[in-house]
Amino acid sequence: MQHQQLYTTLNNGIQMPLLGLGVYDMYQQEAEQAVSWALETGYRLIDTAAMYNNETEIGNAIRQSLVQRSDIFVTTKVHNDDQGFDPTLRAFDKSLQNLRIDYIDLYLVHWPIRATRKETWLALEKLYSEGRVKAIGVANYLIPFLDELQTYNSIVPAVNQVELSPYLFDKDLVEVCQNRKIQLQAYTPLVRGLRMNDPKLLAIATQYSKTPAQIILRWAIQHGISSIPKSANLKRLQENFNIFDFHISPENMSFLDGFNENLRVVEDPMDLF
Ligand SMILES: NC(=O)c1ccc[n+]([C@@H]2O[C@H](COP(=O)([O-])OP(=O)(O)OC[C@H]3O[C@@H](n4cnc5c(N)ncnc54)[C@H](OP(=O)(O)O)[C@@H]3O)[C@@H](O)[C@H]2O)c1
Repeated sequence: MQHQQLYTTLNNGIQMPLLGLGVYDMYQQEAEQAVSWALETGYRLIDTAAMYNNETEIGNAIRQSLVQRSDIFVTTKVHNDDQGFDPTLRAFDKSLQNLRIDYIDLYLVHWPIRATRKETWLALEKLYSEGRVKAIGVANYLIPFLDELQTYNSIVPAVNQVELSPYLFDKDLVEVCQNRKIQLQAYTPLVRGLRMNDPKLLAIATQYSKTPAQIILRWAIQHGISSIPKSANLKRLQENFNIFDFHISPENMSFLDGFNENLRVVEDPMDLF
């Protein structure tokens, strides 16, 4: 079945698909297979990181795909161990070599490491200014980190990738990013499966004849928030992409907004402030 992917325009005019495949915790053949399936299914955004140890396999799947490289949006991220100005420049080259693709669409600061995040960002600005990457952004930048960044940046991050789901819905961050023209991207949108049996979520899923995962991903998209669910399983990967044929009502969107319980499954970035 064909589905219509939706795109957002980043603050530098670049188009980015709203829904992507996250490839954390998949390795070797499994990672290559998952990306091949994803591209066949219609995914056009792949989110990897040097830290995930699978850039080589992700690149293989992209090169072997029948989908044109220009139609695929590839994100990768600076490893925490490689932060700092010169190390970041070298890390970028290393990621390009591992991926073996001509260019990277989006390069992110993976975590706001206290001692090095400023120099790391300045290195990303250099890479962007030299035309070596289509867009640059950050990850795990809650409001205090974004405010600090504003004291020295020349380029506004195109994307901020943070942990976000109906169960962790930081409305202030959503508003700040919208006001500053930073595209929010939700990682761990499926809360690693932890809330799939929540009766409130199941009730909405039943109403639309959709699965809990599909409701969450659709909710994010209707908020204009990009999301990058991970699956290495063909059926679930297809399920997560099958969200472009229905619409959640405003009443149910408000209901989902009220699910927030500040539930984090990944480290709280504020520990790094
Ligand atoms: N920037 C950062 O610091 C950061 C941190 C964490 C994650 N991320 C990115 O965000 C991506 C997504 O986050 P995540 O992988 O941590 O968690 P997630 O996408 O919320 O959940 C993935 C888990 O849910 C399962 N799953 C997938 N689809 C499902 C469905 N339809 N129904 C039920 N279970 C389903 C997956 O298992 P199967 O594979 O078996 O389907 C996997 O165990 C990562 O892959 C990574 O790219 C970024």
